[in-house]
Amino acid sequence: MELKNHPILKAARGEETDYTPVWIMRQAGRYSERYRKIREKAGSFMNLCRNPELAAEVTLIPIEEIGVDAAILFSDILVPVEKMGIKVEFVEGKGPVLTPPVRNFRDVEVLKVPDPKEDLSYVLETIRIIKERLVDRPLIGFSGAPFTLASYILEGGSSKNYIAAKSVMWNDKELWDSLMTKLSETVTEYLSAQIEAGADLVQIFDSWMGVLSREDYEKYAFPYTKRIVNELKKRHPETPIIHFGVNAQHLLEVNNRLRVDVIGLDWKTEIPFALERIDKSIQGNLDPVALFADERTIEEKVRKILKEGLKARGHIFNLGHGILPQTDPKKARFLVETVHRISRELRG
Ligand code: CP3
Repeated sequence: MELKNHPILKAARGEETDYTPVWIMRQAGRYSERYRKIREKAGSFMNLCRNPELAAEVTLIPIEEIGVDAAILFSDILVPVEKMGIKVEFVEGKGPVLTPPVRNFRDVEVLKVPDPKEDLSYVLETIRIIKERLVDRPLIGFSGAPFTLASYILEGGSSKNYIAAKSVMWNDKELWDSLMTKLSETVTEYLSAQIEAGADLVQIFDSWMGVLSREDYEKYAFPYTKRIVNELKKRHPETPIIHFGVNAQHLLEVNNRLRVDVIGLDWKTEIPFALERIDKSIQGNLDPVALFADERTIEEKVRKILKEGLKARGHIFNLGHGILPQTDPKKARFLVETVHRISRELRG
């Protein structure tokens, strides 16, 4: 089979498939013992991201261990942010810590738009190694979206209420625009370079866009994402784009105006509700905690999602957010097999 006819790429384009393809957000992560061992060897998570040989090895673990239909590049949305000139550390139990946090115009002025070929060559090298080894399944590249990245930069890390980010957004529109413009350029060049290095499709993570009201999202975040998507479609018209965020039910109609191919849904967004609002292919949306339920319950939930997904233009199965570190890998494998089996059955 030619790679361009792989079910994930077909589903993204809205073509019929024999079964529903599946991958899992954070599929190369801490729930896997092999991942934990390799991370130990690398010393830290960021070191692992910077080592093409190990990052490629980690990327391919879930293909073997749980049988997913695609690999996702092992990296993090904060990797390019580090190359803009902000220190990024992952502190155990606290998540990412960014220093210094951006406060004023001068802080933004000194931020650089990284040249991927120079500054992020290790990511592109990772992609090339993966593509040499993975011939029968697509590789997903990814980036954060400007709003989600700006929130980390302005908050200095994860946040509950986004006070620093929203304050800048409302009180200092020029500072906001200049930061968001730099991030848009960064993301455009970064994703474009990933596609040129071999990524078969890309996902834009606007994980935290749901904290904005529809009006604020349309004014302060959507235009920048739109600019990125339009430029990517111009440069790489054949490469499907997935757009994902959590708690973003109220933004579905707005995001349907993006020229993306697939919209990722979290587990609280009901598929019929989404299909009344969007005409793109969908991705999702099992609750990550459902993998702690017994197999019969998982099967029931999967069947419901698959049935509803058949009404979409195309459906890529996934969890509604990242797989949790406490998950039993056997359950992840069971999920993949169940999606394949039931989705074939339903097409009977
Ligand atoms: O999906 C994959 O397997 C690909 C790799 C990937 C990671 N992060 C690896 C990772 C991807 C696509 C991401 C995206 C990412 N990173 C997002 C968007 C997706 C989402 O979750 O909404 C965000 C917001 C981040 C920022 C980030 N990275 C946080 C908040 C954390 C800490 C969270 C935690 O669980 O401790 C990370 C760390 C991180 N990124 C890990 C992995 C495997 C855990 C690192 C480790 O301790 O080994």
